[in-house]
Amino acid sequence: MTQKILEVVQTTILKEKPDPSTLEFGKHFSDHMFMMDYTSEEGWHQPRVVPYQSLTLEPAAMVFHYGQTVFEGLKAYRSSNGDIRLFRPEENFKRLNQSCDRLSIPKVNEEAMLEYLKEFVKLDKDWIPKEKGMSLYIRPFIISTEATLDVSPSRAYTLMIILSPVGSFYKGGIDPVSIFVENEYTRAAPGGTGNAKTAGNYSGAYKAQERASSHKKDQVLWLDGVEKKYVEEVGSMNVFFKINDEIHTPALNGSILEGITRKSVIELLESEGMSVCERSISIDEVIAANENGSLQEMFGTGTAAVISPVGRLEYKGRDYEINNGKMGETASWLHETLVGIQTGALDDPFGWSIEV
Ligand code: COI
Repeated sequence: MTQKILEVVQTTILKEKPDPSTLEFGKHFSDHMFMMDYTSEEGWHQPRVVPYQSLTLEPAAMVFHYGQTVFEGLKAYRSSNGDIRLFRPEENFKRLNQSCDRLSIPKVNEEAMLEYLKEFVKLDKDWIPKEKGMSLYIRPFIISTEATLDVSPSRAYTLMIILSPVGSFYKGGIDPVSIFVENEYTRAAPGGTGNAKTAGNYSGAYKAQERASSHKKDQVLWLDGVEKKYVEEVGSMNVFFKINDEIHTPALNGSILEGITRKSVIELLESEGMSVCERSISIDEVIAANENGSLQEMFGTGTAAVISPVGRLEYKGRDYEINNGKMGETASWLHETLVGIQTGALDDPFGWSIEV
């Protein structure tokens, strides 16, 4: 599809762009937003781009009451020669539909969404920061809008995409983060919504995050919801361990988010002849491997977080330093390679980076 496929109402008031040196994650938004509506009579219809603006919704809109909503996160990058690139965007629309399925939200047409997104990003391309380590974070999301307190799937939805120029997700940039291993609260349980990108998975984590912050830790590491024994994920990142020169990551089990960066890291490592062992990893094994020196690295992966080394871990009141609190060589190589592919600075033998 090359013809214009979107109705575009351009803003007449262009906003001032933020100073890139002061960018915080998700605080600024571009000039426009994408919208598309769903009704049971018409299906998904009227894809359009309008000036970024507030919404008018009835207080009874179902999203406010029962949280029937899903979202995605991906990024647009500007390469050194000025091209605009998206990283594996088709995977995001595929996962959006998986989340829709879990939350009983009608699915979208993935191919059409990709074309709309390209056209939308092109319109607001001046919002893609040119500076190293920066990008335009893309947040597609769907909310249930039917005005009723009935507890059943909504019959009306709005899909929106907003764009936010971002630098690092963590304040310390690529510096190793510290992690609090949560063994009281649960993020997700078998059969729940853990592998869907839906609001409740994140707001349900705030209480544990408060405790992690009070222990001066950046993030929470979640354990499985049944035995509180096996490592699952960090909420904003999947996790990897390098033990005795081998890479291990928790196997996808329905309660772990199926990260696109996770998948890319596995494929990248495998393309270099390193196998990645996807399996159940107990927290006791991680602590023991750290104690006996076989845990060489721990790092997280995510769209927002990219590759984030973990330098410190707190579990049951004890603090453990990992790899002397430093970024390891595997995390460092992965970061450089992934960002290189994303920004077009390195060859992309996988065809992941799509020019808009
Ligand atoms: C992302 O990495 O895109 C996410 O959705 C995580 C979010 C909590 C920032």
